[in-house]
Amino acid sequence: MRADEKTAIKDKNQNCIAGAGLHFERVSFSWPSGTKALDQCSFSTPGPGLWMLVGSNGSGKSTLFRLISGLLEPQQGSIHNDLKPALVFQNPDHQLLMPTCGSDLLLSLPRELTDAQRHQRVRNSLEQVGLAGMESRPIHTLSGGQKQRLAIAGALASEATLLLLDEPTALLDPASQQTILATVQQLCHRSNAPLTALWVTHRLEELEHADGAAMMKNGRIGGWQASHQLRENLPPLAGRRG
Ligand SMILES: Nc1ncnc2c1ncn2[C@@H]1O[C@H](COP(=O)(O)OP(=O)(O)OP(=O)(O)O)[C@@H](O)[C@H]1O
Ligand SMILES: [Mg+2]
Repeated sequence: MRADEKTAIKDKNQNCIAGAGLHFERVSFSWPSGTKALDQCSFSTPGPGLWMLVGSNGSGKSTLFRLISGLLEPQQGSIHNDLKPALVFQNPDHQLLMPTCGSDLLLSLPRELTDAQRHQRVRNSLEQVGLAGMESRPIHTLSGGQKQRLAIAGALASEATLLLLDEPTALLDPASQQTILATVQQLCHRSNAPLTALWVTHRLEELEHADGAAMMKNGRIGGWQASHQLRENLPPLAGRRG
């Protein structure tokens, strides 16, 4: 690892301590079955950017996202979050509910907007994910990659500032995978209000697009590392699905 990369990642791990964002402090959570999914897990987001998490099956990644999004409460420890989270699942069919792109996005909007503002917000959200002009398109006519971009547009329409992407490309072909990566990267690096994204992946080649990566193991997250460093440090078979 180069010296400048080392310094950058060290700074990121230090910035986590105080700044705005998402902070986990010794968070534990066990399912009613007794399975301990998170075990005194502490970590912070270093700031806006694309942050990837890897970890073998059952290491606690999806449970972590449920805790961040408020679907579950920690049983021990604390979560401080001043970002607005939105979940993007592996399978967009599990979150797209309405017949057309526009009607689905309208569901994500805050209630207080006027009709004109609502339509403007829908248009903007579609534009930002490369689906401009698709308001009336029936969702069942979209490709898998387009559906995933629509799910991201839903997060934008809701004014989310923290995208929680749980293996968002696992069902996509390489071209759609690249488009989703590029879309999220762009949102995380735009000059105006860049987003923070936590991206779970088992596809290790995706790590090269991240600003940093961390390993989740037995319900805990290690420190942020440069992606290639994390890849080099991975145990031989951990999480290598594709
Ligand atoms: N609804 C549930 N009820 C009971 N146990 C659960 C539930 N969801 C997850 N678990 C358990 O919690 C642990 C962590 O699961 P989780 O789904 O968070 O892991 P993961 O890292 O997302 O795995 P994967 O890579 O397979 O998606 C596992 O042992 C799992 O069996
Ligand atoms: Mg999971």
